[in-house]
Order: sequence, then C-alpha cells, then structure tokens
Amino acid sequence: MLLHIPEVLSTSQVADMRRRMDAAEWTDGRQTVGPQGAKVKRNLQLPDASPLRKELGDLVVAALARHPLYHAAALPLRTLSPRFNRYEGGGEYGFHIDGAVMASGHGDTHIRSDISCTLFLSDPEEYDGGELIVSDTYGEHEVKLPAGDAIVYPSSSLHRVTPVTRGARVASFFWVQSMVRDDGTRRLLLEMDTAIRKLSADGADPASILQLSGVYHNLLRRWAEV
Ligand code: NI
Repeated sequence: MLLHIPEVLSTSQVADMRRRMDAAEWTDGRQTVGPQGAKVKRNLQLPDASPLRKELGDLVVAALARHPLYHAAALPLRTLSPRFNRYEGGGEYGFHIDGAVMASGHGDTHIRSDISCTLFLSDPEEYDGGELIVSDTYGEHEVKLPAGDAIVYPSSSLHRVTPVTRGARVASFFWVQSMVRDDGTRRLLLEMDTAIRKLSADGADPASILQLSGVYHNLLRRWAEV
C-alpha cells in the first residue's frame, strides 16, 4: 500500500529544520548502504553520528506519533531513527530494494523493514527531477509531495529517485517494523479503522460501532506480533 500522509510537519517546522540542515556538514550517502546500493546511490546525508540528525530525527518521530492516519496505516512497533538526505547536481538513486533487516543503533537490536517512509522537506517548485518512483504489481508510481508531507510504501518494493537537475531535494527517510508484517493485512485493518471513524463522525448506531471496534481489535490481537 502506497499511502500519502499529509501535513506531518508544519511550514514553520520544515523551515526551521531546513535552516539548521543548511548550516550542517553533509557526508556521502554511500556510507550507509552495502555494495549493491553503493553502485547506484549518489546523494548526501547528515552523518549518522551527528547530534543534529538525532535531534531532527526525534522531531520527525514525535510528529508522526501525533498523526492518526500514519499510526493507523503503519501500526508501528519499532522505528529506525530517521536519516536525512539531499540530492542536487544530478544526484540520484537508481532502482534498489531496501535491506530487510537493519541494526537499530541501540545495542544489538535489529528491526525488520516492513514499511519505508520518505518525508519531503523541499517543495516541488524548489527542484526539477527527484521523483520517488515506486514499482509494484500495479506498475510504477511517481511521488513528489509538498514539504511536510510523507509517503509510506512496502519495503518489499523496488524503488528509485530520479536525478535532480535543478535545485536541491531534501528529505527524511526511515524504516518501520510494523506490528502487522503483511502489507495486505495492514491495508484491511486501515480500511476497517477508517470506516469505523467515519461511522462515528456521522453519528451511526453506537452499538454497531462498538461491535465493529471489537472486531477490529480482535483481528489486530490475532495478527499483531509484539
Ligand atoms: Ni531505498
């Protein structure tokens, strides 16, 4: 499921992050990928050990935690601390698939990447190119969102970022291990959750809403791995 999560960060939050990142040291993005990824990756990243990366990453995680649609869609169990990248001057990232298991950076904990997330920090007018292309069984999807908006997609998808030929594309990216491993199962739960919220907002019969909510939670109890 490819899902657009609007307004994760406000305009002022994005501007503040961008100002602080503009003054930071950036490093070659190939430092955080294996040999396959290194062949096709040409971008810059805030260094993993940078205190600014950690601080801004925590802000991103906190903003997502407040977003009901993100929570309902991702059902996050563990989130890898967000990283930040910058594509400019023809920078791109060719087709690749993200690693399945990643070290969390906390002791020897690992996460399984179920969901990949990109949070856009540049507005589409600021740069040319830089589309995120996600390839799945329905074909190729082109994603370029307003600053502050995020896209989530299954980590099992092939994807790439097209060359940035003008300006700079700045984004945050990270992976999530979901309580519900299977993308199709997460989608069913999201649809049910969305329908229950709508029925509640429309003032539908409370007993029926209660019954449906019970079904939602009992399905989640059946499917969640925590
Ligand atoms: Ni990737």
